[in-house]
Amino acid sequence: MRDKIVAGNWKMNNDLAETEDLLSKIKLEWEGTEGVRVIVAPSFTNLHHAFESLRDTQVEVAAQNMNQHENGAYTGEVSAKMLTSIGIKTVILGHSERRAIFKETDEVLAEKVNTALKNDMEVIFCCGEELKERKNNDHFEVVKGQLENGLFHISEEALEKVVVAYEPVWAIGTGETASPEQAQEMHAFIRKSIEEKYGKDKAAEVAILYGGSVKPSNAKEIFAKEDVDGGLVGGASLKAEDFLAIARAFN
Ligand code: G3P
Repeated sequence: MRDKIVAGNWKMNNDLAETEDLLSKIKLEWEGTEGVRVIVAPSFTNLHHAFESLRDTQVEVAAQNMNQHENGAYTGEVSAKMLTSIGIKTVILGHSERRAIFKETDEVLAEKVNTALKNDMEVIFCCGEELKERKNNDHFEVVKGQLENGLFHISEEALEKVVVAYEPVWAIGTGETASPEQAQEMHAFIRKSIEEKYGKDKAAEVAILYGGSVKPSNAKEIFAKEDVDGGLVGGASLKAEDFLAIARAFN
């Protein structure tokens, strides 16, 4: 049975005091619900504090990114080993903001996936189309290309350490959530693509998260879809009550 996951991508938000304030509210309110993994992804400067603060709780901590190199002259960057050395075992890779703003290519992302897996990390691999690509009906081709060029070089065994997050770029931060039917259609396509590469059994085990304006008001309907295994939440993850309402949205 694949995991149900609600992960909060805090992006570039929360200083140390705000981090501790949000974590203390989450710790107070979240006892853990059977079969639901709750993950928070603070910025690099707050990761160690978050890991220590959540050490004895049911809440996990992930990084929002990492460099593809093991170490070296990459000013300002963070390596997989730096993350695992402070207890971080999960990393988000290929977020649309990394692709669009920081020009991360499929090739770089494939290297980052390799480095994360080599360091025994779990990867939350993001994919998703731009509005113009959906309007041109190119969205399936775009997402398949992102998977084939950034992820599908890995082994069947390595796939067990991968979660996929479908985030239609036009739904991120816009309040324009994909409809549950749109989400299910693309999630089913992603699972079919995984099946064609790795087989039905392996594909059935991969959690596929939806991201893009997930809110307490829409999470239940989206998460009820057959191939939606949870959410990658941005804005709503910055309020403990909203984030945990989403974590409780599985029926
Ligand atoms: O990674 C999650 C994020 O891109 C979604 O953001 O604010 O639309 O929930 P938001």
